Order: sequence, then C-alpha cells, then structure tokens
Amino acid sequence: MDTGLSGKHVVITGASGGIGLETVKVFLSEGARVTGTYNSSMRELDSLQDKWQNQLLPVKTDQTEESEVESLFEQANEKFGRVDILVANAGIANHEGKAIQDMSLEQWEKTISVNLTGSFLCSKYFFANLEKYEGETASLILVGSTAGFFGEAWYSDYATSKAGMHGLMMSLKNEITHIAPKGRVNLVNPGWTLTPIAEEALTDKDMVTRILQTIPMRKTATPQDISSAILYFASEILSGHVSGQTINVAGGMEGRVLFTPREIQQSE
Ligand SMILES: NC(=O)c1ccc[n+]([C@@H]2O[C@H](COP(=O)([O-])OP(=O)(O)OC[C@H]3O[C@@H](n4cnc5c(N)ncnc54)[C@H](OP(=O)(O)O)[C@@H]3O)[C@@H](O)[C@H]2O)c1
Repeated sequence: MDTGLSGKHVVITGASGGIGLETVKVFLSEGARVTGTYNSSMRELDSLQDKWQNQLLPVKTDQTEESEVESLFEQANEKFGRVDILVANAGIANHEGKAIQDMSLEQWEKTISVNLTGSFLCSKYFFANLEKYEGETASLILVGSTAGFFGEAWYSDYATSKAGMHGLMMSLKNEITHIAPKGRVNLVNPGWTLTPIAEEALTDKDMVTRILQTIPMRKTATPQDISSAILYFASEILSGHVSGQTINVAGGMEGRVLFTPREIQQSE
C-alpha cells in the first residue's frame, strides 16, 4: 500500500532507542528521508547509516538544551530541506520507582525536562521550521504513554510528564493550521513495550503477571506495534483528515492492578 511517505523528510527523536530505531527503519523502507537523534550513543543507527547514506542523517542531540534542538533542525534543513514530519519520541524513565515523599526534586525536574520540556523544544523548532518553508501539510506525532492516562504509582514524575503530552497535542493541533493549513498533531501512547526503558520491569515475572492482568490480549507490545501507529499518523494518505487524536497501543489495557490477592488477604 502506498503511504505517500516517499521523499518526505521526518525528524525522529530518540532514534537510537527501541521504538525510535524501529520507526526509523519503517520510514526508511517507505522511501522517506530521516533525521534521527541520539543522545549518548548511536547504537544500531551507526550500521543503518552505512546502508542508507542518502536517506539517513543521525544527529547527536540532548533535547533539554535549546541550542542543540535549534542546531538539530538547522542540520536537518541543510541535508534534506523542509521537515515535513516530527516524531517526538525521546524519553526517559527512572529505573527505580520512588514514592513521592522520597522523590528528589532533581529526579522530578530531570524527567519533566527530558520528556515534556524536550518535546516542547522539538515542537517549537518544528513549527518555526514550517514557517520558513512553503507547504500545506505537516504532521507532528507526540509519543506519550498509557502512564499519562492511568497514572503510574512510584513513577509520578514520568506519568506527569506523559500526561502533559495530551495538553501539548490539543493545543498545537489548533496552532499548526495557522502555518500549514493541512497540518495535523496527534498522540501515540504506547503501553508496555519490550525496549531498554522497560526491560527491567518486563524481565520480572511477577511484574509481567501484574501487567498482563490488565490487558485483554495478554501480551505486551513490540516496537513494531508502536511504529505502525506512528506511520499511520504520519501518512497523509492514511490519516490526512485525522488531528487531535490519541491512539493507545496497549492491547486494550484497562488500568492497573493495585493489589495482588495475597496483599488483599494480608490486609484483612
Ligand atoms: N517501552 C515502553 O514500555 C514504553 C511505554 C510507554 C511509553 N514509552 C515511550 O516511548 C518513547 C520511546 O521509548 P523506548 O521504549 O524506545 O525507550 P529507549 O529504548 O530507552 O529509548 C529512549 C530514547 O530517548 C533518548 N534520550 C534519552 N534522553 C534524551 C535526551 N536528554 N535528549 C534526547 N534524547 C534522549 C535515548 O537516547 P540515549 O539512549 O542515547 O540516551 C533513546 O534514543 C519514550 O518517550 C517512552 O517514554 C515507552
């Protein structure tokens, strides 16, 4: 099926991570030109670049630094011209859960800064970029999390940063059309997905059982599940009249298991 993405230029943040890398591969195989960011190490992006030299530009970017985000878009323009699509995917989660009374201000600020402020900065320079070029269509895809909807006890910093993506999406969908008349902004909320960010939790058998109790499909997502939803929102052919929408890619997740039967019995 033709997605119409051939020749489009997409910036994908967090392209060295599990979901980002899979998304890069999908866009490359659709014939898109991809500027992909990494923060600390290129990882598999390195070998991809050898294979896709004419279509892939990796850029080291710490998205908490405004000057680095500005430079990212300058480098992207220089290599591939107008940025048609932004996938704001980069994010972090602290591996160790913390009750709010034990959470340091430093941890709170770091998570908000990378996940939410970083997405703000990338969106800001994406919009500024659209202003520089002629063009009717544009697509911003924010990557949130089911944690932003259901909450996530012991990870309130992360859940709050992801809940903020909804407000960003609902606001920016009404701003983008002032620059690109057919511009769209949507949100993809992954549920549990096997990537480095979730690896520790998903190798804990008890944790996996607890997670699967909330998911009718009784399985976690693959990075491909998430990249397919991103691809859908990116394509004018597939979703050209869809804006301000959220896709939860979470197997029908209902919420959270708060207590195991044993924990209930112990409290009786
Ligand atoms: N996996 C899940 O279960 C799950 C569930 C819900 C939502 N999500 C969301 O999906 C997105 C992708 O997650 P993932 O599972 O692919 O995680 P991942 O494999 O850990 O990848 C995270 C990416 O973000 C980058 N990053 C970290 N700090 C950054 C910074 N300061 N500036 C720029 N980039 C930075 C990382 O680069 P470096 O590694 O080089 O630092 C990496 O490329 C995240 O927003 C995450 O919150 C994931």
